[in-house]
Amino acid sequence: MRQVDVEIIKLFELQDGHLSGAQLSTALGISRTAIWKHINNLRELGYEILATPGLGYRLISKPDILTSGEIKAVLQTKLLGNKVVVLQKTESTNDIAKEHARSGTEEGLLIVAGEQTKGRGRRGRLWHSDLGGLYFSILLRPKLALADISQITLLIAVSIVQVLQEQYQLAATIKWPNDILINDKKVGGILTELSADAETVKYLIIGIGINCNNKIQNWPAEVKAIGASLATITGKQIDRKQLLSEILTNLEKNYTRFISREFNELIPLAKQFSCVLGREITVHTTDHAFKGQALDINDDGSLLIQDETGKLLNLWAGDVSVRK
Ligand code: BTN
Repeated sequence: MRQVDVEIIKLFELQDGHLSGAQLSTALGISRTAIWKHINNLRELGYEILATPGLGYRLISKPDILTSGEIKAVLQTKLLGNKVVVLQKTESTNDIAKEHARSGTEEGLLIVAGEQTKGRGRRGRLWHSDLGGLYFSILLRPKLALADISQITLLIAVSIVQVLQEQYQLAATIKWPNDILINDKKVGGILTELSADAETVKYLIIGIGINCNNKIQNWPAEVKAIGASLATITGKQIDRKQLLSEILTNLEKNYTRFISREFNELIPLAKQFSCVLGREITVHTTDHAFKGQALDINDDGSLLIQDETGKLLNLWAGDVSVRK
């Protein structure tokens, strides 16, 4: 999308009504013929723009596509999204972010994709990434010791849940450590990948997938069985760039406080939002399945469980399934 197109959309959003060709032409300093060409270009991109003789143009609806121009226009962050790359289709945004990280890109880079053909979930699983979802990765370079990193996934999860609860009035919860659930159905997941030397972090890639306007009727049965989309839960189309902007704003605030060791509410919030505490669970790690009751989230972000023999165990990673 060209800069003038972005400006025209911004003017429509400010006006919330008709704008004549003359008004647009004065505001943007280009001819009315040029305006007409840009309007047609926007229509080809899927923007529905009505032209009424005597009144001018009116924006009726916007397509559900993400462009870097539209994203930049709504972002209110300084760090996260200081550079934005949008790909309509890619294998995995985490992989693209990793390439940038390796070639020295600064922290804050945001990669967004409309679709992913090899979207990755944790433990080598596939993250079903069809059109309509929100898929993005952020490159961070926190000056943190490796030991502090286990809290990062919770930091992200807390930041997303706060937005879904406070701005969308959704009963979102965290299934430790990285799943976002609503009514026990998965609406989002976080994949944190990092590169570190002996003790310090070189870079961190935070990959986030949120089911928004996906065509869930076309989902494979196994995805449908455990997942849901925000549009089906709310009954409304989700403005993905708005949701992205809200998450990044909240995450930037929380991340900045976390880095300065000021985010003291992180673990209390992770506990408050948790849907596993007090429940009978199984935690699957690479080589073991631990059965027990989820008792607490420790200060370092690990999960405290009591196994069936009464033994207390701290787990730093794993996949939790809740036993009904
Ligand atoms: C999980 O639930 O196991 C984590 C899912 C993470 C999916 C996101 S989508 C954007 C980013 N790119 C990927 O390939 N994966 C993450």
